[in-house]
Amino acid sequence: MKLGVNIDHIATLREARKINEPDPLMALEILKQAGANQVTIHLREDRRHINDYDAKRIIESSFLPVNMECSINEDIIEIICDLKPQRATLVPEKREEITTEGGLDVIKNEKRVKKAIEKLHSNGIEVSLFIDPDFEQIKKSKELNSEMIELHTGKFANLYLALFTNINKTPNKVFENLDKKTLRKEYLLELNLLKDAAKLAKDINLEVAAGHGLNYQNIYDILEIKEISELNIGHSIIANSIFTGLYEAVRKMKEIILKYY
Ligand code: PXP
Repeated sequence: MKLGVNIDHIATLREARKINEPDPLMALEILKQAGANQVTIHLREDRRHINDYDAKRIIESSFLPVNMECSINEDIIEIICDLKPQRATLVPEKREEITTEGGLDVIKNEKRVKKAIEKLHSNGIEVSLFIDPDFEQIKKSKELNSEMIELHTGKFANLYLALFTNINKTPNKVFENLDKKTLRKEYLLELNLLKDAAKLAKDINLEVAAGHGLNYQNIYDILEIKEISELNIGHSIIANSIFTGLYEAVRKMKEIILKYY
């Protein structure tokens, strides 16, 4: 199981002051030493954290493969093709959202996704599609020639929070009025959906990653899903690094993962 560490929020902190520190580039060596297998960055259309200059420097100097999350906006795809990361993960993007909410609808956006995938492939960039655990979305991803899918674990993570921590005010608020019994049922349903989705994807020869909202507490049920070969984790690792340092925050996550593999 590979660990991709999303370092966007190092840049989020920098942008809080709009100066030059902390520099996300400084994370690369630490990530590698702590056992991460990949660095993940999201070049958002509004450049709220990672900017073009960060992306360029990270891709040029990283010893780890770089996975770039991006929208299917043609201008952004053009930039990604120039930057040439190892992989592009296509995600939905809404300007007003706090973070990526929900997976990319590859059925509704079929034409644009197809075009983006073709363009990325012709520039030698692998493609992963960040989708909800939905069978039709998975089949369409295969049909569109994507090498990989990343299953959105956001709903799972929000249910975990609501069920086990009483934090029930996550951005979509859909679980606000549910009692614990219903929450538990919903949690297991979502987990089973992720399991079945990963199995279907693997059966049709798609590589399977997962990510969003994963942390030291909720990762265990996801690690049981053997079809998943990569996790991309950002917020919780960067949040913990404030207290433990980035090396320890990544090392601890990697240690949990390695105990399962
Ligand atoms: N995977 C994808 C495709 C994402 O968009 C994000 C958030 O940027 C992550 C993983 C990481 O999510 P989190 O920061 O909640 O760990």
